[in-house]
Amino acid sequence: MTTPFSGTVDEVPAEETYALRRAVLRPDGGDVVWAGDEDPATFHLAARTPDGHVVGVVRFSPAPCPWRAAAHPWQLRGMATDPALRGGGSGRAVLAAGLAAVSARGGDLVWCDARLSAAGFYVRTGFTVVTPEPYDKPGIGPHVGMLIELSGAGANRSS
Ligand SMILES: CC(C)(COP(=O)(O)OP(=O)(O)OC[C@H]1O[C@@H](n2cnc3c(N)ncnc32)[C@H](O)[C@@H]1OP(=O)(O)O)[C@@H](O)C(=O)NCCC(=O)NCCS
Repeated sequence: MTTPFSGTVDEVPAEETYALRRAVLRPDGGDVVWAGDEDPATFHLAARTPDGHVVGVVRFSPAPCPWRAAAHPWQLRGMATDPALRGGGSGRAVLAAGLAAVSARGGDLVWCDARLSAAGFYVRTGFTVVTPEPYDKPGIGPHVGMLIELSGAGANRSS
């Protein structure tokens, strides 16, 4: 397993994630401000090195899962690690923090459209591929549907 990330992971405003989204996820242009970023239920996490640099970001928001019924499904989007820090454990750290935060909010499942090139990362962090074949997202490339069911959800569920 990778060395645990030595920085911090905190909830941040959406705009703190945009620089990494732009550099890593939309290097050829394209919107980095997405519908739902400012929804009250949406939250964003950032991993920072001890000197304060944001090196990893992710977003979670409540959304129906396309592939599996769940009472309180959430979607993961905008997962990105600074290329200089890849393999340094920050991806795992923000994802683990996000799953814990979703569970604390009552979520019972997290799903994502995973880039095929990142599917191994999600598998390493507990997700399962649930679509039979990769599908294309125009301008981005092949994806697979992935999800993780969360145990212990419900302690703080409000609805
Ligand atoms: C995918 C990504 C977020 C992973 O972040 P990271 O900080 O490098 O991940 P970590 O260092 O925490 O790695 C956690 C584990 O996943 C593995 N891993 C990381 N990226 C992987 C990949 N692309 N394929 C397979 N395994 C991968 C690591 O080896 C590590 O495994 P280990 O703990 O067993 O040693 C990062 O590579 C990235 O930003 N990629 C480009 C953008 C992207 O594709 N985002 C996802 C969009 S759906």
